[in-house]
Amino acid sequence: MKNNSSSNPHNLVLKILEEARWCPSPDNIQPWRFKLLTETSFEIHCKDQSDWMVYDINGHVTWLSLGFLFETLNITALELGYEVQYTKLTQSAEQTIIFNAQLIPTTKNKSALFTSIKSRSVQRKPMGLKTLTLIEKNELLTCIPNEFSIHFFEKTSQKFKIGKLLYGNSTTRYIMEEGYRVHSKVIDWHKGNEQFSATKIPPKSLGIDPITTALTKWALADWSRFHFIEKYLAGTVWAKFLMDFCTSIRCSGHFLLTYNKPIETLEEFVESGQVVMRLWLTFEKLGLGFQPEYTPIMFAEMVRKNIQFSQNTKAMKNVKKMDDKLKYFIGEKNTFNSVYMARYGRSSVASSRSIRKPLSELLLP
Ligand SMILES: Cc1cc2nc3c(=O)[nH]c(=O)nc-3n(C[C@H](O)[C@H](O)[C@H](O)COP(=O)(O)O)c2cc1C
Repeated sequence: MKNNSSSNPHNLVLKILEEARWCPSPDNIQPWRFKLLTETSFEIHCKDQSDWMVYDINGHVTWLSLGFLFETLNITALELGYEVQYTKLTQSAEQTIIFNAQLIPTTKNKSALFTSIKSRSVQRKPMGLKTLTLIEKNELLTCIPNEFSIHFFEKTSQKFKIGKLLYGNSTTRYIMEEGYRVHSKVIDWHKGNEQFSATKIPPKSLGIDPITTALTKWALADWSRFHFIEKYLAGTVWAKFLMDFCTSIRCSGHFLLTYNKPIETLEEFVESGQVVMRLWLTFEKLGLGFQPEYTPIMFAEMVRKNIQFSQNTKAMKNVKKMDDKLKYFIGEKNTFNSVYMARYGRSSVASSRSIRKPLSELLLP
């Protein structure tokens, strides 16, 4: 075991967690908590959000994010000369999965992705258009095990189709009250948190102008208000145009990651999340901005499994219509096997971003 002589026996674990807490999670929820055990071990308690978040059906988005966390922990531990061995302990009825993480000394090479962990951040604003070079594509391909494939969409006609698809998916999200319950919670409207938020998404990171931001804040305060302006005043058209359509065109391209079958098990979601985390960090290392486009993937699973996720019949019809469009665009097999989608582009550092809760708030007694 490495010499880790210091007053606090947990220093090594704390050092790793301090870095790994910068791992991204959906809407910056940070669904994980850590319990310190020994000098070289800790537990990860990860709670899925399926009780309130319509998008976390069966906890699958949380499971995927757990893969993001594992990969971030692995890269950080390697930097300090350790590998991490994960053992699942329980998956309780309270939607919480517990893993034991054991640090094991290793002589393996450090990862070149380490320095990207803290600087990586979602870029929701328009980005530069220059497509990926062959060298950049090859570097991205090294992140992907054999069972996965990556498909790039860089032609203007393809970006246009994806823009329309994301716009349509946002229509589904905005017309259903189940979506409103999520959107009204995840944006941080507190004064002082407009640019950086430790618990949610800061409004300035959304890529919309100040007037649309103010209107969104006003509308999201109450469902009947939001519903009225969406239904009768076309109040979400401009926001969808800016956030979904324009950004889809104003980027280098989009990619779709697929597995060799539909992902189903916790292990498959976690492995997929690890691959996506490596990809995102590689984009960051290459100086490219990145924005996940998760709605087509999650809606594809809901349609495939015939899940009644909303009481709103218009939303249920629209989700099917958009999924048909996705199938027409990428093929039925790729739709079933889809794991993740995102856009990327030449971009400077995001000027507004989510930050994180302090580690002390992520530690369990
Ligand atoms: C599984 C997963 C899905 C996500 N889906 C989206 C998405 O559809 N659209 C988006 O703008 N951001 C998406 N995000 C980005 C998160 O909102 C973002 O990473 C988080 O708020 C933390 O912010 P940061 O990346 O700036 O650190 C997703 C993140 C994860 C982990």
